[in-house]
Amino acid sequence: GKEIILSPSLLSVDFAHIADGIKELDRAEVPALHLDVMDGAFVPNISFGAPVIKCLRKETNMIFDVHLMVEEPVRYIDDFKKAGADWVTVHAECCKHLHRTITAIKEAGMKAGVALNPATPVSVIDYVLDEVDMVLVMSVNPGFGGQSFIPSSLRKIVEVRKLIDERNLDVRIEVDGGVNLKNVGEVIKSGADVIVAGSAVFNGDIYENSTKFMEKFRER
Ligand code: DX5
Ligand code: ZN
Repeated sequence: GKEIILSPSLLSVDFAHIADGIKELDRAEVPALHLDVMDGAFVPNISFGAPVIKCLRKETNMIFDVHLMVEEPVRYIDDFKKAGADWVTVHAECCKHLHRTITAIKEAGMKAGVALNPATPVSVIDYVLDEVDMVLVMSVNPGFGGQSFIPSSLRKIVEVRKLIDERNLDVRIEVDGGVNLKNVGEVIKSGADVIVAGSAVFNGDIYENSTKFMEKFRER
């Protein structure tokens, strides 16, 4: 398989010192930064949006992996492009016209991902799988960091991996929610190749935690 990418979720950073957190990730040579945008409508929480991401863009060259937990995200694609997003992932549950939204992300020059809530079946993305660059399997219900990993997510990762490989597609699988150093091995074994970790990276020594994750990826 491809090289595994760590994408720490900024949601668990100390928001009074975001740039310091980013510096630690850069020092550890973390490839991507997961940016959770929440609208208080699709999810019961509000986080930050394009203006914040635009400011952070000046601080680092990491891949900006933007996870939109927003109703009808098609409305904001240009804003996130201008803010410097590299990857934009939308929830299948949020789009009236999922295919159109994915096409618009790619036409704007970004990589497009589609996310599935824990209760959403894989069949929902059957007809867009060959259009996306990434499938994000949510392993918690979106809205908050620090929740525990829902076990049935492993089965879903396996199912998505099977579809991608059967069709010979070049699509990554990202897993988001409750991933830690104990369960990340199983997550990778199931077929994921982009690993999100929020609390497991930011609670404690950011440099050390990121390094430990990336060592685990290498020893597989
Ligand atoms: C949840 C977010 C996740 C979250 C992950 O809605 O999409 O990215 O920040 O945090 P942990 O790793 O602590 O579950
Ligand atoms: Zn996320």
